[in-house]
Amino acid sequence: MNPKNCLIFGGSGQIGSFLIRKLTKNNIKVTVVTRNTHQKGLKIKTQGNAGYIDVKESNIFDEKKIEKLFSEADYCINLIGILYEKKRGNTFKNIHTIFPTILAKLCKKYNLKQFIHISALGINEAIDSKYAISKLEGENNILDNFSKTTILRPSVVFSNSDNFSTQFMTLLNRLPIFPLYYSGNTKFMPIHCSDLTDIIYHVLSNKIETKIIECVGPEVLSFKEILQILLSLIDKKRFLVPFPLPIAKLSAKFFQLLPKPLLTVDQLKLLKYDNIPSGKYKTNSEIGVPSKLFFRNEVKKYSFMWRDGGEFSTEKYNTKSLNEKS
Ligand SMILES: NC(=O)c1ccc[n+]([C@@H]2O[C@H](COP(=O)([O-])OP(=O)(O)OC[C@H]3O[C@@H](n4cnc5c(N)ncnc54)[C@H](OP(=O)(O)O)[C@@H]3O)[C@@H](O)[C@H]2O)c1
Repeated sequence: MNPKNCLIFGGSGQIGSFLIRKLTKNNIKVTVVTRNTHQKGLKIKTQGNAGYIDVKESNIFDEKKIEKLFSEADYCINLIGILYEKKRGNTFKNIHTIFPTILAKLCKKYNLKQFIHISALGINEAIDSKYAISKLEGENNILDNFSKTTILRPSVVFSNSDNFSTQFMTLLNRLPIFPLYYSGNTKFMPIHCSDLTDIIYHVLSNKIETKIIECVGPEVLSFKEILQILLSLIDKKRFLVPFPLPIAKLSAKFFQLLPKPLLTVDQLKLLKYDNIPSGKYKTNSEIGVPSKLFFRNEVKKYSFMWRDGGEFSTEKYNTKSLNEKS
């Protein structure tokens, strides 16, 4: 039997890399669309065996170019998302609403077997966030246009190549005090990237028809608990200081001016809402794929690079005996 062909948008990112490995190992061919093959081609190509990965460069709104790819695809997966808006076309509306709608229409036109779209947890609740509103409108448009769609809504996704645990460890390393927004009480259920890609593969291979699945890790952690775990893993003591809302807003206004914002006003609004299952939709456990990987255990595997001494701070290297040798 020929391997099935899966068309992936956003495959060069954190989830994309794990997903390409999972799918190609399981005999599924992937065609990955990227904005820039010079920058991302090598990363994408080295995630699976030769012959299983095809890389295409395209602007995601070049409909003529992307339409051609649908004629050869069995499945489509959309992983494209942004955390903050930039000038010109990079708006939440374009990326989270208009683009996924185009994909859903093409899935219908070429009668694909399934469309899997990665959205985000908590978007029904975060009614004042532009990010959440754009994701929700995107979901609604997709479901209106293509019935063979499954939408996955993950809580925060972590791995050694995330922008979450790694970025926080960098900041915690450098800053003597660290702000706690909403007193650090917001709850999350961090899910490891490989647990999430197991869910995507399960949905594809078992023809799961559930429309919306909330994807969460095995434990509930508050923002403060997450920071405390990271601090203990990098062996640092820092003051975690609750920021009153007006000061938090002011800091977000300043941070969002940076080229890669640490926090935007919109993200601050999102942080107000717990990022846990709503109870209205099935979770990954309910479709038979519970998450297995715990935050502390997994981050421990790479956090030593943020400790003083880096790899020499691990039990594996006995610095005393190294010193004696020299
Ligand atoms: N990471 C999380 O904690 C988390 C939590 C909930 C939901 N999600 C959702 O899951 C999806 C994947 O997340 P991720 O962490 O893998 O994201 P990521 O690492 O930021 O990767 C996203 C990919 O999207 C493409 N992309 C970004 N901006 C684009 C633009 N303006 N135009 C076209 N393509 C663009 C990029 O591909 P190229 O550069 O190759 O074009 C990039 O590799 C997103 O929709 C995100 O909202 C993530």
